[in-house]
Amino acid sequence: MRFQDKVVLITGGSSGIGRATAQAFAREGARVCVADVNDAGGAEVVQAIQAAGGSAFYVHCDVSDSAQVQAMVAACVAQLGALHYAVNNAGISGTMLLPITQSDETVFDRVMAVNVRGVWLCMKYEIPAMLQSGGGAIVNLASVAGLIGAPGGSAYTASKHAVIGMTKAVALEFARHGVRVNAVCPSYIDTPMVADVMAQDPKTAQRVPIASPMKRMGEVGEVASAILYLCSEGASFINGTTLAIDGGLTAS
Ligand SMILES: NC(=O)c1ccc[n+]([C@@H]2O[C@H](COP(=O)([O-])OP(=O)(O)OC[C@H]3O[C@@H](n4cnc5c(N)ncnc54)[C@H](O)[C@@H]3O)[C@@H](O)[C@H]2O)c1
Repeated sequence: MRFQDKVVLITGGSSGIGRATAQAFAREGARVCVADVNDAGGAEVVQAIQAAGGSAFYVHCDVSDSAQVQAMVAACVAQLGALHYAVNNAGISGTMLLPITQSDETVFDRVMAVNVRGVWLCMKYEIPAMLQSGGGAIVNLASVAGLIGAPGGSAYTASKHAVIGMTKAVALEFARHGVRVNAVCPSYIDTPMVADVMAQDPKTAQRVPIASPMKRMGEVGEVASAILYLCSEGASFINGTTLAIDGGLTAS
């Protein structure tokens, strides 16, 4: 039980990687605040955690909205008494199959609002609560698209490179104050987000496992376990880094 009675906030916790991460933290004793815009999914996750004997509650939050992010952090602290860990996971893909010349500016703006402004706002308001709680750790969800280009997804690629950049900057800002900040970079993981992209283009669905050095997609639990490690005491000297969870994809 690495996180007994610790408090963790997970944005985008209603689905996919966020959901698996919320459940993994709860299994290790953490009290979990699940935040999302998908209220029905959030209720399901909370119910599943509670049914397994864990502690969780849900708060509605669009991470691109400053007032909602502030209210989310305040609700977490009011309900659970502290904030020790945050997983800034909420994200959208936008269009992943269109060259820039055919891409829509409104999609670019929304991808940036959620993936970049959202992570920035979350860190801005989470860190004071963590300092008040005696320190903690943040894990931001970047992507292999933060390390290399994802053709057809130029907005998503830009947003995930930005997540890595701000992770490094903020990690340096709070290194002496007991808050570590790291990012993870998954490749294709089997989630509803990826299922949507695959459904739009069956050729991509066939190509992905073939392109992977391990000849398969990743599982949500494999990302969750890396996130928990980065939050744990075992990672106490790991700060400002990006951890690829990609079966070796970016090693080549
Ligand atoms: N699945 C992958 O292959 C993969 C790979 C690399 C990185 N990622 C990143 O991991 C994160 C989670 O992705 P996933 O695959 O689990 O996706 P998902 O679509 O299954 O889950 C994303 C969650 O974020 C929520 N969300 C979307 N916009 C939001 C907003 N404005 N405010 C609050 N919540 C919002 C959604 O409602 C959803 O519950 C994302 O940041 C994604 O970019 C995913």
